[in-house]
Formats: sequence, C-alpha cells, structure tokens
Amino acid sequence: MPADGPPRTASAIPRIDARRLEEAIRSFGRIGALLGGGVCRLALSDADKAARDELTHRMTMLGLVVDIDAIGNIFGTRPARAPDGAAGTVMIGSHIDTVSTGGLYDGTFGVLAGLEIVAALNDAAIETERPITVAAFTNEEGSRFQPDMLGSLVFAGGLPLADALATRDADGAVLGDELRRIGYAGDATGPENIAAYFELHIEQGPVLEREGIQIGVVSGIQGISWHAFRLTGRSAHAGTTPRAMRRDAGMAAARIVHGAYEMGARMGADQLVTCGSLRFTPGLVNVVPQEANLTIDLRNPDDDALRDAETALLAIARTAAAEADVQLEHRSLARFAPVSFDPALVAEVERVATGLGHTTRRMHSGAGHDAQMLARIAPSAMIFVPSTGGVSHNVEEYTAPDDLARGTEILNHLVLHWSCPSLDGAQNGVRA
Ligand code: HGY
Ligand code: MN
Ligand code: MN
Repeated sequence: MPADGPPRTASAIPRIDARRLEEAIRSFGRIGALLGGGVCRLALSDADKAARDELTHRMTMLGLVVDIDAIGNIFGTRPARAPDGAAGTVMIGSHIDTVSTGGLYDGTFGVLAGLEIVAALNDAAIETERPITVAAFTNEEGSRFQPDMLGSLVFAGGLPLADALATRDADGAVLGDELRRIGYAGDATGPENIAAYFELHIEQGPVLEREGIQIGVVSGIQGISWHAFRLTGRSAHAGTTPRAMRRDAGMAAARIVHGAYEMGARMGADQLVTCGSLRFTPGLVNVVPQEANLTIDLRNPDDDALRDAETALLAIARTAAAEADVQLEHRSLARFAPVSFDPALVAEVERVATGLGHTTRRMHSGAGHDAQMLARIAPSAMIFVPSTGGVSHNVEEYTAPDDLARGTEILNHLVLHWSCPSLDGAQNGVRA
C-alpha cells in the first residue's frame, strides 16, 4: 500500500509500465545467469535462493505482506480495503525456478507481471475490494526434485507435506534440508480462500507464432506421466564377452528408449514421448554397462490414452530387461491427469483479450503449470503469449516485449475486474 498517507479510493486507472516489467525480467535474468545467455536456477539451489531473496525484497518494497509456507511457496499479498477475507483473494501465480538450460521468461514472466500489476495499482493509489496475492511456487520444474509442480501440489493438498519434504534429488540431498539451508522453510499457511487464480505464461511451443495469433486462451493442460528405470546387469569386457554371456544393461536401456519412441509414433501425434536422461555405469567405451538409468516423460491430453501408453511402456521395459537378463527397477516420478480450467474464467479471458482487440485462439497447454494444481482448489485460467520459434527449456527462449505487454495488459484487466469490480476495467491501459 502506498506509504504516503491514508488509503485513497481510485483516482486513476492503473497503467502497466511495460518498460518497468521488461527491466524486472532482465534483472531476474542476471540471477543464475549462464555464460552465453540463459539461466540455471534449479529449485532450492543458491541461485533459486538469490531469486527468492530478490522477489521477497521487491514484494516488500511494493508494500505486500510476504508469507512463506512450509514447502517454501512465496505469497505476496496486497490487502483489500475491507480485508474481511470472505470475498477471497485474487491470486496471480507461477514460478521462479528454472530448468538447467532455462530462459528468462518461463515462470518468471508470470510472477513479475503480477508485481507489475501491483505496482500499477500502487501508482494509481487504488484500493481493491479483494486482496491480491502474487505467488511463486516451489519446484515447479521438477528438474531437481520430482514431481514437478511440487510446491503448488502441496498447497492444493495433493501431496502430504512430510512426503514432499522427504523427497531426495539425484545426489541424495533432502528437499526439507535444502529448504532450511536456503532459509525458506516457512510456517505460514498461504491464502485459504482464493476467488480466482490466473497464470500468465509463455506458450513454450510453436502454435501461436505459427498461426500468427497474439494470445492463447488456455482451456486446460494435458496429462503428464514421468518414469525412471534402473537396469542392473554385469560389467564385462566389450571385446572378449560373447553375446550369450552378457547381461548388458546398456542394450536393455537402448531397447526401452527405442521401444518407447516407436510406441509414441504408433499412438499418434497426441502421444508425446521423451527420454530426457540416460546414464550408463561405468560409461566407458570398452565396458559392457553394469547399470543404466533412464527417464521417460509421457504426455497426452487424453487420460485413457496416457494410461495405455504407460501400460505399453512398462511392457516394453519388462521385455527388454528379460531379453538382456538384467534386473529392472521402475519408479513413477510424477503423474498428473489432464485438467480443464474453469469454463467461465476461460471465457472471461477470451472476452477480455478480444475486447482489447487482440487475436486469440483456445488451446491446451503442452507444458505442466502450477495452474494444473490450483485448478483443484480454485477457479483457474491461463493466458499464453507467443514463444519465438516455439523454443523453451532452452537458453534461446524469447518473447517480444509487445507480446509481454499484451499478456500483462489482459492479466491487469482480469485482476482489476475481480479485485475492484466497481472500477471499469475497460479504462485501464498500458503505458508503452
Ligand atoms: O514439465 C513441464 O511441463 C513443466 O515445465 N514443469
Ligand atoms: Mn513454467
Ligand atoms: Mn518449465
């Protein structure tokens, strides 16, 4: 709340400052910056801590009440004129952790756009009728700790806190220990009554750019199923060991990967298959691998088809292990069914975007998002802006300033409408 004097009613309509938002995105891009461009801020790493510190600092400077919950989710709340809480808070959320080859926009854009909307409300000295909360959820990416969307999943009641805190990364580090180490093991509960949740995000795919559409009105998110396999055979000499004597974990792994991709191709374009990691031990040119560890990421907008793919994958893995005479261990790292967003909220996003003169198309999200979890406990919707070249989870990730501003303007209208219905949202605009 602006520091100067008692709260005042609306004296002007909030105007988004696109330059200020771009500068905030660039500034966050310097936290965990990679040489040559891009960002690496793996969840609960020192870089993630630095970004968290910067975010909570900016929230405090904007007069927000900052709460950290027990899984490290960060909530910055702008109180309402009559904070009775009954009306519920309007939440704007996303994440600030990244994959290890991350760009400047995935997640961070949505959180910083939320801060920009708060700054514009402060500039216009507007008191809202509902509180507004900007949220940054822990470990959305799932790169270091699985499952992905872990913080928002715990917040939505989909994963017991104790189980989440006990999760280990590939090096054995425990999530709860890391949370304490970086000083973000909080004790707040976070907002309990959410009137609406909005997430502004880059599309991370090629659809909007290819079709020349400005805004993606996201109707839902496809299903996600992550699998880890460990194959254990016996290391042996690559030159002296006849095929019949081998227990080749590498061959079994290669057959699982090949079989999975072939299965995906047979199931059609909606069934996506990705082997994101494959490691052999000892991993030497002249040694039959003792052990192989691999992950498979399955995605499909249809839950039944996704289940078929999961069943097929496990059968492929068992056959490959049996034929190679190696031991097979399987772990499910994440499984989230497809989610459809609140139809009325989706229609409102579409109405606001078209009302502002932007071209739109309805679409499913290929990527998982915190909105997938928030949809369990509140009416939720997402707004996409185009990704240049459809590239993301890549240091080349880029979205043009006009697209950033367009998405933020729409979010601003939606948040204003929900938090300050007495104000005609149609008047607010964007300072270029
Ligand atoms: O994997 C995903 O879809 C998201 O980026 N966590
Ligand atoms: Mn994201
Ligand atoms: Mn991502």
